[in-house]
Amino acid sequence: MTVEIAELKHLLDFANALALEAGALTLEYFKGSFTTERKADQSLVTVADRETERLLRRRIEESFPRDAILGEEEGLRQGTTGRRWIIDPIDGTYSFVHGVPFYAVLIGLEVKGEALLGVVNLPALNEMVSAARGLGCFWNGKAAGVSTTESLGEALLLSTDFGICRQYGFEAAGEALQRRVQARRTWGDAFGHVLVATGRADVMLDPVMNIWDCAALLPIVEEAGGTFTDWRGKRTIAGGNAISTNGKLFPSVMDTIREAPTGW
Ligand code: IPD
Ligand code: CA
Ligand code: CA
Repeated sequence: MTVEIAELKHLLDFANALALEAGALTLEYFKGSFTTERKADQSLVTVADRETERLLRRRIEESFPRDAILGEEEGLRQGTTGRRWIIDPIDGTYSFVHGVPFYAVLIGLEVKGEALLGVVNLPALNEMVSAARGLGCFWNGKAAGVSTTESLGEALLLSTDFGICRQYGFEAAGEALQRRVQARRTWGDAFGHVLVATGRADVMLDPVMNIWDCAALLPIVEEAGGTFTDWRGKRTIAGGNAISTNGKLFPSVMDTIREAPTGW
């Protein structure tokens, strides 16, 4: 452990309060009106994404002026403490712009390169999940844990978008997993990983993830008793893709992926 427990608790309290404040700001836009634009990569961004990232950065800078900050909309600000806050002001922008409440504010904290703390606030669902290494995972203040499902044949598999697996070379692996499970749904983005961390789904896969999509999720899923890895099974927030499992299903998920012909 690179951080004292008391310090980690303090950082978690800060992140929880900040996620609530940021979530409230997003909710004002979500319930009201907002402008939407397309970024250079054609993905959607709204005034709510930009304003919320500004708020998150301002609050972090006020409390921890020497920490680094990496955010989806404004990039990296260097720091000097070995701590890096990794934020995604609105994860699930596609849901947000369609008036679907499955969007979240994500706050992750890395200390000396280790993802130690994460908060996911889903303000339109009134759900908040947070965790810090060694302190457990909490869902609206109560201890959260993964499911006890032991076989893929009984599992609920989620993905943000099964359809784009092909684009990223995961077509056969994605299809093999879909064939083996009991049910599939596309309750995606961070929400899907939160559903695994809270025992409501068993496996969640996403073929394309940035570091700000993953940073908050790794500590959350692990502290809930699950696994958070890339598609090769490596424990990382920088793999470019991600799979959460309830832990029990991790070996069979990885075997299924390994046995499938891949394009990567
Ligand atoms: C998206 C979500 C999604 C992932 C995309 C991301 P955004 O985030 O994390 O699960 O598949 O690659 O862009 O754009 O809604 O913040
Ligand atoms: Ca995101
Ligand atoms: Ca985003």
